[in-house]
Amino acid sequence: EKGGYEWFMVKEIEEQPKAVADTLLGRTDPDGLLQLDEMRLSDDELREIDKIIIIACGTASYAGLVAKYAIEHWTRIPCEVELASEFRYRDPIIDRATLVVAISQSGETMDTLMAIRYARQQRARVLSICNTNGSTIPRESDAVIYTHAGPEVAVASTKGFLSQVVACYLLGLYLAQVKGVKYGDEVRVIIDELEQIPAKVQRMLDDGDQVRKLAAELVDRRSFLFLGRHVGYPVALEGALKLKELAYVHAEGFAAGELKHGPIALVEKGLPMFVIVPPRARDQLQEKIVSNIQEVRARGAYTIVLVEDGDDSVVPFADVVIRLPKVPTLLQPLVAAVPLQIFACELAELLGHDVDQPRNLAKSVTVE
Ligand code: M6R
Repeated sequence: EKGGYEWFMVKEIEEQPKAVADTLLGRTDPDGLLQLDEMRLSDDELREIDKIIIIACGTASYAGLVAKYAIEHWTRIPCEVELASEFRYRDPIIDRATLVVAISQSGETMDTLMAIRYARQQRARVLSICNTNGSTIPRESDAVIYTHAGPEVAVASTKGFLSQVVACYLLGLYLAQVKGVKYGDEVRVIIDELEQIPAKVQRMLDDGDQVRKLAAELVDRRSFLFLGRHVGYPVALEGALKLKELAYVHAEGFAAGELKHGPIALVEKGLPMFVIVPPRARDQLQEKIVSNIQEVRARGAYTIVLVEDGDDSVVPFADVVIRLPKVPTLLQPLVAAVPLQIFACELAELLGHDVDQPRNLAKSVTVE
């Protein structure tokens, strides 16, 4: 039931702190080491893995893109991400040492199911990340990590996405732990940081009015762009997908570094552009994206900048600043995705659309 909320989507957005906390629950032992009970693949089997291929559709594929950055960084195992609908038609190179990770909220998405069947025929090991107990995809997998988001009813995935990202981190950290790679220490730090995420997601919810007002201000716009890089890139894709499916407006996400390779030609006066700024902590990503913001602003874009607390370098070039709590770079999607969900939900509502059941869409796509 909707529990007093007007839409399931609003309720599910609000449930995200709990979805994250529940997905983390019981996954560490008293020594702070990860344990994944439903794993069903032995540590020896996992040590044989020399390649990971993540397959998924839609929002779940964006969770997979986030996972690639984290898994490769922590485990040093090469990791590819592929849309399930493309995977088995390109003659992928997979064998017994390949771990195919299928991400699916429903566990019933036909493209993803057909892809894991194909992967198992090729002898790959298949692990699924799924929110629905006993659904087809986990039943046909060698191992499963359940997300514990609770039932997701709205067609647009929200808590499903956040909990998938968390489960992917758990997988990456677990593989790093099993392999005993040099990032072992980082594993503990990240687990600590993950434990603090529910409160930080709650803060994004508490700040939601800022984004809702912005939606009212931009209600007549027919086109929106989203820029991000590193793990902010999949967040940009996710922000754009939410707007397309809910508000039926043109929305596109780009990797910020691609701007000069084409997309900047789209920029004109008043074009709303969301930009997700990476934390300052590492390398020069933050500076590079700040110069992108300057470039699009100079061409008239209306810049809506998502940036961590304390980073004021973007303020002179931002029409709107949306503050994010400080988190490690790899975890930023968990906080940055939330205002984009709220924005899309609010815009759809203002436009008078059915927020839970957008036109032409089904909750699970059970045909290819
Ligand atoms: O149930 P699944 O996670 O396999 O679904 C995958 C996509 O169909 C799904 O994420 C879709 O893109 C959502 N409607 C996005 O909000």
